[in-house]
This record gives sequence, structure tokens and C-alpha cells, in this order.
Amino acid sequence: MFKAAIIQFEPALGDVDKNIRIISQKLTETKDSKLVVLPELASTGYDFTDSEMAGSLAEVPAESAYVKMLHDVAFENDQYIISGFNEQCGEDLYNSSLLIGPEGLMGTYRKMHLFMNEKKYFKPGEGGLNVYDIGFCKLGMQICFDYLFPEPWRILAQKGADLIIHPSNLLTQNAMKALPGIALMNKVYIVTANRIGTEGELAFNGNSMILSPSGDILTKASSDSIEILKQDIDPTLAHDKMITSMNHVFDDRRPEQYTGDNC
Ligand code: ACM
Repeated sequence: MFKAAIIQFEPALGDVDKNIRIISQKLTETKDSKLVVLPELASTGYDFTDSEMAGSLAEVPAESAYVKMLHDVAFENDQYIISGFNEQCGEDLYNSSLLIGPEGLMGTYRKMHLFMNEKKYFKPGEGGLNVYDIGFCKLGMQICFDYLFPEPWRILAQKGADLIIHPSNLLTQNAMKALPGIALMNKVYIVTANRIGTEGELAFNGNSMILSPSGDILTKASSDSIEILKQDIDPTLAHDKMITSMNHVFDDRRPEQYTGDNC
């Protein structure tokens, strides 16, 4: 059993220094949690005005003051922090999620399914679907709009993820409808860290939540307040893939019958 925390807040668009100040202050309240999750693009905000703005705010993780701050906190508290990050790699930008532990950057997931204007700024992720063993649990990462594409969640669960961590900047209620089903179908925990506030026309809707492997909401934030959620998690519950005494969510699949040719 371990404690996971979500920091739901309102990143300031384009003001990385201010976001570092807010996040490092909030991280003083999550020292008791082994795993802390922040929203998508937490250090930069989301709705860039153009490619110049997106590029000027992108960083190489190894040179980022934000990543250094997260690493310092993870080291001091002996914990793991996951945050959305505007990642620069050569000429390309990725909408990424970073896993940072006491030893530093342990993993990167680059968002595969880009939403709306993100397609103007970011390259779709192509780095594969990795599961990270951090000792007390195994986790995979997805980002926001990825919720609409069930295959990667299934693959992460099949690769042994107990938890799928989901930094988000959600704008509709669709994820709240889809995610309990995804948790249930794969019998994994899902940790969705969303943001609040507005940027121009965009209104982000909070409701950060942690879902059990039965698809139940264990804890959920409000739609409009800065909040820290904390939840005890027993990762062994995600090892049980039986949905009844005679049904296993992976072994009962019949992929050889899924061609559609036999209708
Ligand atoms: C989203 O993928 N940020 C909606």
C-alpha cells in the first residue's frame, strides 16, 4: 500500500517561473505521498498563441530548471513525480509526460494522439509504450486526449502496469465517461491529474480523479478549485484480472475471431 497524490492547479500560460513557484510550494504539501502527479504541460500552460510561443517555452529535460526542481524534491522526499512537460528534442517539440524519481529522470512518454491545435506545435509521440517498475508499483503513462484510444491502455495493462498515470488538460466531460470503463476493462488504477482555469476560449474542467481497477471513483476533485487529492493505493488489486470466478479480462479475449469476416 502506498499513498498517491494529485496536484490540481491553474498553470499560468507562458510564465514558467511562476509555475515553478506554485508547484514547488504545493509539493511541500505532498511529502507524505510516494507518487505525485501534475497536469499536462504543467510548467508552461497549454494554449500557445503560435509556434514561436510553443518553441520558446519548450525545454530539453536535462537543461530545465523545472525538471531540476522536481528532481530535487523527489530526492529530498524519496518519492516519484510525474508531470506534463513541453519537451524539445532537436527541432521537434513533444507534449510529454516525465517520470522523475530520487535518481533523476526515469522515463518519458510522448503524447501519441494530439488534440486540436496541438497538431500545429507538437510531433506525435513515437517512443513506444513503456511500463516502469518503481519498486512499490509498476506504471505506464498516457496524456489527456489519449483516453479516446483504447489500445495503448490495454497494451500497458498487458505489459503489467498496475497504474496508468494520466496528466491532463481536459476540456470536455468525455474522459470522465470513458475512463471508468478503461479502468474496469483492464483492471488497472487510473490517476488523472487535470487542471482548472481558462486560457482564452478554453475552459479546463478539473475533476481530477483516481479510479480503482473496478472502475470506481476513489477520490475526485472539484471542477474549479486548486486542490490536492490523496489516496491509498494497493497495487496488488490490479494483479487480479478475474472479473468473475470464470472470466479473465485478458485470457477470455478472442482476437482470432475479431476479423469481422465471419459475420
Ligand atoms: C487534451 O488532450 N489536452 C484535450
